[in-house]
Amino acid sequence: MTASETDDFTPTQIFATPLWVRRVVGFEQINADIRALLPQLRTESAERRSNEGGWHSQTNLHTDDRLAQIRKIIGTTSAGCATSIGFDFTRHNLVFQSLWININGHGHSNRAHVHPQSFLSGAYYVDMPKDGGNIELFDPIAARVMSPFPADDLSPYTGQLLEHTCREGDLLVFPGWLQHSVQRNESNRDRISISFNMTFESKPNTQR
Ligand SMILES: [Fe+2]
Repeated sequence: MTASETDDFTPTQIFATPLWVRRVVGFEQINADIRALLPQLRTESAERRSNEGGWHSQTNLHTDDRLAQIRKIIGTTSAGCATSIGFDFTRHNLVFQSLWININGHGHSNRAHVHPQSFLSGAYYVDMPKDGGNIELFDPIAARVMSPFPADDLSPYTGQLLEHTCREGDLLVFPGWLQHSVQRNESNRDRISISFNMTFESKPNTQR
C-alpha cells in the first residue's frame, strides 16, 4: 500500500516566470548593419533612463525603418514567446510599445528596474565584450527571502538572483514586470544592446 498514486514528486509549477534565450540566425551580418547605423543615430537623439552613464537612444526606434530587420526578428520572436504561454491572438494583437539602443562604455551600468505596462520585454546583444556586464534577473517572489531552505545548488525554488552571461546575437525575452539590472562594463569596449517593450491591443469587434 502506498500513500499516493505515484512516487513522482515533481511539483506543479505555479506563478511561473518565463525566460526565453534565443540565438538569432545570421546575427553577425545583422549586428554589422546595426553598428554601421550608430554614428548617425547617436547624432539624432538621447535619453536618460535606468542607465548610469552611457548612451540611451530615443525609445521610438521601432518606428525607424533603418532597424526594420531586427524589429521583425524581435516581433516574430516575441509572438512565438507569447504563443507559448497562451496569448490569445484571436482577440488581441501583440504590438511594439518601444524599442531603443543602449551603449554602455567602461564603468557604465543600469540600475535595477522593471518595464511598466510591458507584457514582454527583452534585449538583443549587438556587441558584448568580455566583462562587459551581465544582466541580473531578480526573484519576483520577494517573500521567499523570509524562508530560505538548504539546497546544494541554486534552483528555481531557492535562487534570489539569476546572472545571465550574454552573447552577441542572443535575444532575451522576459515579462516586463521582472526586475533586472545590468552590471558595470569592466571592459574597454562598448556594450551595445537593443531593448524593447511589447504590449497588446484588442482587435476591432472582438471585445466581450
Ligand atoms: Fe530593462
